[in-house]
Amino acid sequence: MKTEPRCILAPSMLSADFSSAGEAVAMIGKTTAQWIHLDVMDGLFVPNISFGPKFIEDIRPLSSLVFDTHLMVERPERFIVEFAKAGSDIITIHAEATVHLHRTLGAIHDEGKQAGVSLVPSTPVSSIEMILDDVELVLVMSVDPGFGGQKFIANSLDKIRQLDALRKKHNLDFRISVDGGVNANNANRLVEAGVDVLVMGSAFFNADDKKSFAARIQGMES
Ligand code: DX5
Ligand code: ZN
Repeated sequence: MKTEPRCILAPSMLSADFSSAGEAVAMIGKTTAQWIHLDVMDGLFVPNISFGPKFIEDIRPLSSLVFDTHLMVERPERFIVEFAKAGSDIITIHAEATVHLHRTLGAIHDEGKQAGVSLVPSTPVSSIEMILDDVELVLVMSVDPGFGGQKFIANSLDKIRQLDALRKKHNLDFRISVDGGVNANNANRLVEAGVDVLVMGSAFFNADDKKSFAARIQGMES
């Protein structure tokens, strides 16, 4: 029997019912998911608005899981301190949203947090090659960010393979995360391509038995 999870599962709170957010956090804690993914949207970088640091601060005492904050925000350098103080463990920013990516990643580290960089589907891996040594996480968006429940964009797999090859070539240790349209049908392929972290919104929240769903996705006995 396999008991070790083959990957990290990060359910996305975007798919939760916000009127019972605390219950969703507690429910995630009863599964084998290790991270909670927190999608922050500003209505500018993406065509949707979600929540800000207060939401994260309010649910922080309810969980000891890793808080994986995904900032889909223009000029994220304006908000690093707030999201660090709110209780994020990892802060991921978009390469497309800040000119001084290196400086902003440094600002995340200055707050004692892990730094992640994310790419929308149209941005090539080459755009972040120079800073791969400065991040703990690369988040590959496999849908155009902004909404849960969209269809997985297949060429994201190539991007994941490229990143996995680069980290092997340069002996780097960043994790690769994939976000958007991840479900039970594509999880195996993604892990085989080099993904360490599966972000899941609708597929996780739509599952009837979330505990056995999580275990199955993570390659464990349910
Ligand atoms: C989309 C967000 C995702 C979203 C994923 O812009 O970044 O984290 O919650 O939802 P699903 O898994 O439903 O595509
Ligand atoms: Zn996300």
